[in-house]
Amino acid sequence: MSPKSIQYEIKTERLFLRPKRMEDVSRVFEILNENPEMTRFMSFDPPEKIEDTQKFFLEKEKEFPEKSVVWSIFFQDKLVGIISLEDICRTQNAWKIDRAELGYWLDPLFHGQGIMTEAGQAVLAFGFEKLGLHKITVGHLPQNSASQRVIEKLGFRFVGELRDHFFRFGQWWNDKQYEMIVDEFQKQDS
Ligand SMILES: CC(C)(COP(=O)(O)OP(=O)(O)OC[C@H]1O[C@@H](n2cnc3c(N)ncnc32)[C@H](O)[C@@H]1OP(=O)(O)O)[C@@H](O)C(=O)NCCC(=O)NCCS
Repeated sequence: MSPKSIQYEIKTERLFLRPKRMEDVSRVFEILNENPEMTRFMSFDPPEKIEDTQKFFLEKEKEFPEKSVVWSIFFQDKLVGIISLEDICRTQNAWKIDRAELGYWLDPLFHGQGIMTEAGQAVLAFGFEKLGLHKITVGHLPQNSASQRVIEKLGFRFVGELRDHFFRFGQWWNDKQYEMIVDEFQKQDS
């Protein structure tokens, strides 16, 4: 099936996920702007003006759906966070790759209710079953214990700790890397 003809909306027990739309910009800006500390373990700075968030949405729009899928997460009819499969890579020269990287964040008002684990399980299933991915990777800074816990609960395999992988706030940061292969997902799903 071609990526454009896939139905990207996902329903779970408590959540509704759909590809982000421009109408989500103001809510996404509001969450990130009001909770700047949340981005300290992520790759971007909190947006200072709504145009920053608009720019991000427009950039991602160009990648959808071949290179990335970014879903808005709705809980009780409210947009509460974002989850994505990014850097989707299908081939590299003679190699078949079929790999993507998982990323996510959630409005702090909703932390600790299992929301990201539920969204993550749904996106893993979508990535393997609908997008035909072979492997999904994820990483977190060693200091990000909540993200580590989500990754463990999702059943990823720890690969290793990459040293001095990112520079920000005047220092180098390590990155803990994990992976899941489609067979492992199917085993834990059955
Ligand atoms: C990571 C994040 C998405 C988790 O969302 P969430 O919906 O609260 O996650 P869940 O409720 O599914 O699971 C969180 C787990 O982390 C645990 N946890 C939370 N804070 C923790 C901390 N400081 N230390 C250790 N564990 C922690 C919770 O107890 C829970 O584990 P449990 O179910 O065994 O009790 C959220 O914290 C977030 O948005 N963080 C900022 C953005 C970010 O860091 N994104 C990831 C970048 S790699």
